[in-house]
Amino acid sequence: MVLRISASPNAESVLLPGKRSSWKRLFPPDLEREGLICVFRRLLISSRVTAAKDNRMNDRFGREINYLRVSVTDRCNLRCVYCMPPEGVPLLRHEDILRYEEILTVLAAAKKMGISHVRITGGEPLVRKDLDHLVRGIAAMGFEDISMTTNGTLLAGYAQILKEAGLIRVNVSLDSLRPDRFSKITRTGRIEDALAGIQAAVRAGLEPVKVNVVVMAGWNLDEVADMARLTLNLPVHVRFIEYMPIGPSDGMEEVSGVSSDLIMAEISKTVPGGLEVSTAPSGAGPARTYRAAGAKGTIGFISAMSKPFCDSCNRLRLTPDGKLRPCLASAIEVDVKEILRSSRQGSKMREIEEAFRRAILSKPGAHELWDRESQARRMCQIGG
Ligand code: 5AD
Ligand code: SF4
Repeated sequence: MVLRISASPNAESVLLPGKRSSWKRLFPPDLEREGLICVFRRLLISSRVTAAKDNRMNDRFGREINYLRVSVTDRCNLRCVYCMPPEGVPLLRHEDILRYEEILTVLAAAKKMGISHVRITGGEPLVRKDLDHLVRGIAAMGFEDISMTTNGTLLAGYAQILKEAGLIRVNVSLDSLRPDRFSKITRTGRIEDALAGIQAAVRAGLEPVKVNVVVMAGWNLDEVADMARLTLNLPVHVRFIEYMPIGPSDGMEEVSGVSSDLIMAEISKTVPGGLEVSTAPSGAGPARTYRAAGAKGTIGFISAMSKPFCDSCNRLRLTPDGKLRPCLASAIEVDVKEILRSSRQGSKMREIEEAFRRAILSKPGAHELWDRESQARRMCQIGG
């Protein structure tokens, strides 16, 4: 299938939209050459991956559950309008947040239960101290994939260290290319920091680098074509995410989501030409993926609201306070912190494995994101 969408005439350089007279390059040219090198790096990494697992775990609906998203903190240095109210959210007490060694114990059980892919999330994971220690510990366990979702604003200082610790790839949120808008959407962030984070990730080879854009009417819908054009010259994968109404709605009244079809239509309006259905970059999960002719990166759509992908959902979440959560949008939780802190050493692993079994078997068949009132926790409190 070929969708008629194309690059703008001046798309050969990626530009930071601002005043026309002072447009700046977003990323230096050497990053654009990096793309090919990273493909080779990726091949090297995959050749080192451990052999197929025989400990697969299926849920009641026959879905194989092999992916765990581990939230290491509920704290964040930003206050994105679609995620939390301006004043932030009530924070967990430090003693209620799992220590790194506790997370590693949970992961050891997870591995036995068939988890092969691990993602570190938050809040913002990089606000937690010594995250590279945790990454090193996870890397030593031999998972097939270790990734991280971050807002990128602190990433420039950590990308290389995390790469060396064993992190394979990152997803970075970037909801606008316009400095003023970026600051409005994040309430506290500076776009320079996020862009520096993305550059550092590409340089460090944390590939494939994915850029997450939550599209909202009246906030950034008119920028989706600019964001899509980032993929022409940069080896990044831009994914447009439908806003999900998660957690209490107070303080978030100004935010409303946009369907992927509308986003796609908006891209085709402003970017005439060709966009082909593409093979997805590794770890693409639920994204439907396209590529503009000759582009270095891809464009993805994550349509949790308009085209739910629950049928192929393979994930569990671990909240910062040690609850296994089978579905982002259901209140079901299985407590592992209690096991970690009160069980006898001899039976701990078995009990955590049992908690995984319970979480997997209680995974709902489909999400209930339309029933917002039933949701007590926000995304940053569960793990994005
Ligand atoms: N709906 C959709 N995406 C969200 N994210 C955070 N909150 C929401 C929401 N309510 C995104 C972040 C990040 C990823 C983990 O999820 O931007 O990229
Ligand atoms: Fe922080 Fe991510 Fe929530 Fe933004 S979406 S406030 S970066 S946790």
